[in-house]
Amino acid sequence: MPPLDPLPATQADAIGRVFDLYDPPLWLVTAAHGGRRGGLIATFAVRASIVAVMPRMVLGIAKQHHTWGLIEGSGGFALHLLGRDRLDLVWRFGLASGHGTDKFAGLAAQTTPGGQPLIPDALGWLDCRCEARLDSGDRTLYLAAVTDGGTAAEAGAPLTVAGLFAAAPPEQRTRLNALYARDGQVDAVAIRAWRADHTAP
Ligand SMILES: Cc1cc2nc3c(=O)[nH]c(=O)nc-3n(C[C@H](O)[C@H](O)[C@H](O)COP(=O)(O)O)c2cc1C
Repeated sequence: MPPLDPLPATQADAIGRVFDLYDPPLWLVTAAHGGRRGGLIATFAVRASIVAVMPRMVLGIAKQHHTWGLIEGSGGFALHLLGRDRLDLVWRFGLASGHGTDKFAGLAAQTTPGGQPLIPDALGWLDCRCEARLDSGDRTLYLAAVTDGGTAAEAGAPLTVAGLFAAAPPEQRTRLNALYARDGQVDAVAIRAWRADHTAP
């Protein structure tokens, strides 16, 4: 099989319109290890088991992110669904990197039973312990057992990507687009390198 090349723009646009047909929720991912805490916003978090007593999630985290190192170190993470009014948490966790800042500064966080940072007023949270991992080049894909969780007393609809962009002020929308462009460039280089290593001779 020849190596996969990046797609031409017409096909990429057509595929993008398929992705635009659904609206994924935003997850706030947190993790702690070695006295450090961190977190980020992720759309790549999916329920991976229908067995009520063996719940699982799959999470994809880019390897350049601060939170990635904390998940690697602790072997787990917590996931939170946010209310539609919690854009402040997206700006706090999704736009800056914890490599240089403490994203929890001034935030009243608690701790999950699994030892991960818990955002108290999230709509819902899940405590996750990694069972397996896959290196996809740009990301690590974690298959995780969900070991605990909870919901707010009045849990409404969660914040989604479309809801975020609709509610974001112009300046933040520009920052979001810049983040997608920057992370996408880093990811593209990593995927290309991964494919070069994984192409059958
Ligand atoms: C809407 C949205 C979705 C995102 N989805 C993901 C994702 O699924 N996986 C990921 O690794 N990063 C994702 N990111 C990027 C990280 O949240 C962002 O780069 C963050 O600043 C990384 O923080 P850290 O370096 O402190 O871990 C997303 C960002 C936004 C705004």
